[in-house]
Amino acid sequence: MQHFTNVNDLSNLQQALQQAFEIKKDRFQFTELGRNKTLLMIFFNSSLRTRLSTQKAAMNLGMNTMILDVNQGAWKLETERGVVMDGDKPEHLLEAIPVMGCYCDVIGVRSFAQFISKEDDYNEKIINQFIKYSGKPVFSMEGATRHPLQSFADLITIEEYKKVERPKVVLTWAPHPRALPQAVPNSFAEWMNATDYDFVITHPKGYELDAQFVGNAKVEYDQEKAFEGADFIYAKNWAAFADPHYGEILSTDRNWTVDSKKMALTNNAYFMHCLPVRRNMIVTDEVIESPQSIVIAEAANREISAQTVLKMLLEGIK
Ligand code: CP
Repeated sequence: MQHFTNVNDLSNLQQALQQAFEIKKDRFQFTELGRNKTLLMIFFNSSLRTRLSTQKAAMNLGMNTMILDVNQGAWKLETERGVVMDGDKPEHLLEAIPVMGCYCDVIGVRSFAQFISKEDDYNEKIINQFIKYSGKPVFSMEGATRHPLQSFADLITIEEYKKVERPKVVLTWAPHPRALPQAVPNSFAEWMNATDYDFVITHPKGYELDAQFVGNAKVEYDQEKAFEGADFIYAKNWAAFADPHYGEILSTDRNWTVDSKKMALTNNAYFMHCLPVRRNMIVTDEVIESPQSIVIAEAANREISAQTVLKMLLEGIK
C-alpha cells in the first residue's frame, strides 16, 4: 500500500481484517519489518488515542518514532500559496513538507476540518499536500473528512463483538456544545458501507452527511425508531454539512443524548464512541459505564488498526 486515507486504499478489506486479527494474536511477530525505519507523526490538532496507539503500533513493528506538534514548538506554517508572508507564520508548508520527508520513512498526519472553506476541507488540502510533496508514504491520523484508523478499529471491534452475521449498526448524532467536523461519522459510514451490515444513520433534520459517505445507509430521522432492534449503537456529534450551514451547530437538543431508555429499545446493543466523549451530552454516565459499553475495547483496537496499516505501508516501500 502506498498511502492510506480511506477504506479504498486497502486492496481487500476482508484480508486486512484477517491481518489485524493475526497481529492481535501476536503483535511482536513483525519486529524486523520496521527496523531502522522511522515514523514521523505530525499533529495539527490535539490527540490522546491516535498519538499513543500509533506510536505503540510503530514500536511493535520495530520502528523509531518522532512526533511534531505543529502548533507547539514548531514554526507556524503558512498553508496558502501566493501569500505575502509578512504575518505570524515564518515557514511555508511547501518547504516544511519535503524537509520533514527527508527525516523519515513514513508520515502520519492529523489535520482536522477548519470550517473556513468547505472546498479546502473536502479536498483534504493539507493531507494531499503531504502526499504530493513529502516523497514518503503518508497515512491519515484524522483528516478533514475521514478518520480511517478509527473506522478500521471500529470495524475490528464490531467483528469481535457481533452475535449475528449481519448485525444492525446504528450511527446516531448526539448533542455537543462545540462544532465538530464530520470526519468520524463520514468515515464510519464509508467503512460500514464497505461491509454487508444493516446500516442505519439517525440525526435531526439539517444534519445530513455528504451523500458520498451515506452511500446505501438508511437515514431515519426518528432516533427511537432507528434504535429498535439495533445490535450496535455508534454515537457521535457532528456539525452541519449542507450549505449554507456548513460547520454550524443547528441543535444541542439533549433529547438526542443516548440514555438507558433508548438503549432498552435495542437488541441489547453494544454502545460505541470513538472518544473523547462528553458525558451526559452524547451519552449518560449510566450507559457508558454499563456492561454494554465497549468504548475501551474500541480504543484498544486503535493499536491494532494502526499496526495493520503501518505494516502494509512498510511492505509497500521499495
Ligand atoms: N478517537 C481519537 O482519534 O482520539 P484522539 O482524538 O484522542 O486521538
